[in-house]
Amino acid sequence: MSEPLSLPSRPRRNRKNAALRGLCQETRLSAENFIYPLFLHAGGEDEPIASMPGCTRWSLDGLVREAGEAHALGINAIVLFPAIAPELKTPRAEECSNPDGLIPQAIRALKAAHPDLAVVTDIALDPYNSDGHDGVVGEDGRILNDLTVSILCQQAVCHAKAGADIVSPSDMMDGRIGAIRRALDVRGLEEVSILSYCAKYASAYYGPFRGALDSAPKSGDKKTYQMNPANGTEALREARHDIEEGADMLMVKPAGPYLDIIHRLATTCDLPIAAYQVSGEYLMIKSGAAAGWIDEKKIVLESLTGIRRAGAQIILTYFAKQAAVWLQE
Ligand code: PBG
Repeated sequence: MSEPLSLPSRPRRNRKNAALRGLCQETRLSAENFIYPLFLHAGGEDEPIASMPGCTRWSLDGLVREAGEAHALGINAIVLFPAIAPELKTPRAEECSNPDGLIPQAIRALKAAHPDLAVVTDIALDPYNSDGHDGVVGEDGRILNDLTVSILCQQAVCHAKAGADIVSPSDMMDGRIGAIRRALDVRGLEEVSILSYCAKYASAYYGPFRGALDSAPKSGDKKTYQMNPANGTEALREARHDIEEGADMLMVKPAGPYLDIIHRLATTCDLPIAAYQVSGEYLMIKSGAAAGWIDEKKIVLESLTGIRRAGAQIILTYFAKQAAVWLQE
């Protein structure tokens, strides 16, 4: 028998059984924290997405059904990503503000079926742009910031008029939050919120998503607009601009490799912070689980809890529906 240690404080006492662990738990995960990203296309069939096993490119009917199922599980918001037919893609992405386009149709159908489900739309040109960039590509190959912002404003107004609750610019052009805010306000759309992709990094973790939408850049990369993964302080600068320009919520993307950025924004800004667990993060968990190497449920809930603990109150995740089921068990 060894002598008991003389310890005034024993942290393990707060972990001694499930009841105490529950009382002492600092972070909780709930379906209410989730925004569920959904892909859609103009076709009548629901198609599995090869680059993202378990995800589907929904028809309009399938989308409305899937959104309803998610809503019934306690998820109150979805974000839409359209796969646009190649013949509709142009250098200036005109289709992005077509009032009868895929996204406005989807918003109207979703709002008719599920009026209390918040619909978020992505504001960026890449699904509509024949060059596959988030902005218009000039003759010399540069991304034209100010021209792009004027098109993004038209896209945001189009989505807002169709009934979007939140527009979410993911393009990283300078000045787009203020311009979109003004474009909405002068049209009486001042109640539409802006969730800014504030710190969006030029990340290899987006690969599977670009496969899902066939939206990879035709040439070059996105490094002149998306942030350098090596930078943290720069995220604070982006946040300051977005807040001054009228953003309602700020997003960090990707999530898991950028927990420090989530934490820095959450401790310095007074807006709700969102984080996007992106397609590459999803795929790594899915493939590890498919190989039988990791426990999918435990890894998913731990990864989402870590993102919450870092300071994100809102999480965009392809696991949203599955996690909502697990959280009810
Ligand atoms: C583009 C956009 C991207 C994602 C969301 N909006 C890809 C990109 O910037 O190339 C990625 C999401 C994911 O990987 O899950 N506007």
